[in-house]
Amino acid sequence: MAKRVLVLGSGGREHAIVHALSSGSNSVDVHSAPGNAGTAMLGTNHDVDPMDPAAVCDLAERISPDLVVVGPEAPLVNGVSDHLRAAGVAVFGPSSKLAQLEGDKGFAKSIMSSLGIPTSSSVIIGPDDDLDLDLHGPPWVVKHLGLAGGKGVSVTNDLEEAISAIKSAIEKDGEVLLESFLSGEEASILAIMDESGYHTLPASQDHKRVGDGDVGPNTGGMGAYAPAPVITEEVLERVRVRILDPMHAWTVLQGGFRGCLYVGLMIDAVGDPYVVEFNVRLGDPEAQATLPLLQTDLFEVFLASAEGRVNEINLQIIEGACATVVLASEGYPNSSVVGRVICGAIDEQFSSATGRTIVHHGGTTMEDRQLISTGGRVLAVTGHADDLAKAVSLAYERIDMIDLEGGFYRHDIAHRALR
Ligand code: GLY
Repeated sequence: MAKRVLVLGSGGREHAIVHALSSGSNSVDVHSAPGNAGTAMLGTNHDVDPMDPAAVCDLAERISPDLVVVGPEAPLVNGVSDHLRAAGVAVFGPSSKLAQLEGDKGFAKSIMSSLGIPTSSSVIIGPDDDLDLDLHGPPWVVKHLGLAGGKGVSVTNDLEEAISAIKSAIEKDGEVLLESFLSGEEASILAIMDESGYHTLPASQDHKRVGDGDVGPNTGGMGAYAPAPVITEEVLERVRVRILDPMHAWTVLQGGFRGCLYVGLMIDAVGDPYVVEFNVRLGDPEAQATLPLLQTDLFEVFLASAEGRVNEINLQIIEGACATVVLASEGYPNSSVVGRVICGAIDEQFSSATGRTIVHHGGTTMEDRQLISTGGRVLAVTGHADDLAKAVSLAYERIDMIDLEGGFYRHDIAHRALR
């Protein structure tokens, strides 16, 4: 009998999760809340807000899922997993208490400091604190303490810009985090965890700035690729010993973390890893570039984590590489023009002699049989091939076949690996 899964969220990551669940060895009946046009093609969308735990529990009672997967961070911080677990539902996604690792950057820093986990030095300042900015930059790294949808970090050499970022963060959160600048190469490691252990997915690299050459404002992520060669076996072992093992041991003492711990890393010139941030869910667009490389059925992996037996899973990874390029709306990330028609080669999967491509929907909906943009990151186009260069060309070949007025994408995804 088909397994029933409810996926909460509506972005490209959630479509990638739904797509991977639907392509696994288990037959899966996928429900999404609220979902997007892509998830609607693979299952049933429900007009339920993941930020409303009571409404999510009502939906779960109606459809009796074998598993609920929480895609984004905000519902986790808001306690949706706790409510579902109290109702006896298996959930992939940590408790609200452990979601504070992402929801409160000051809390994450204090845990790292108490466990001796390598990270930048930092200071929290409030509106009345005297501040000698010369002590902290340039460059200045200014972070919102609370959730900011991937746009809560400013890294700048411009003092005026730093002051303005500090003021606006204090206005929003009451306090702000100033960090020392870490140099090196960034990477993301997604660890599927529970109290019995953890498995790492292939390391990936995001492209956070909006423009080619890593210029312009930060975004939620303009593209990613996996595996990221900066994470060699030796570097991964350092990440395990210095970061993941102590974090895992700490989460066990807190009652267990059932979900994905996303470790945002800076790898320095000698291969030492430093934590830039923890997130408590899969990355977007890292999920789109990583999940197609998973051979093991995703339903089995997520259910094992939700039931606290991830150590029973033998995680198999497919050879090859994926590259994901995000198609964004005109004006993104400052203000996105939405409501435009998307045309062209959007059908979900194309194969060619060198590999395959997948289009994951982000901000999309169907209206009068037309696909319409509804958000900043509209689609994520992934190429999957036996090497990264081929995966990148496939992704660009396919994205060039899609039309969205004013839409744009970066042209240099994976430039560090292909250099
Ligand atoms: N791509 C960055 C994130 O998911 O937080």
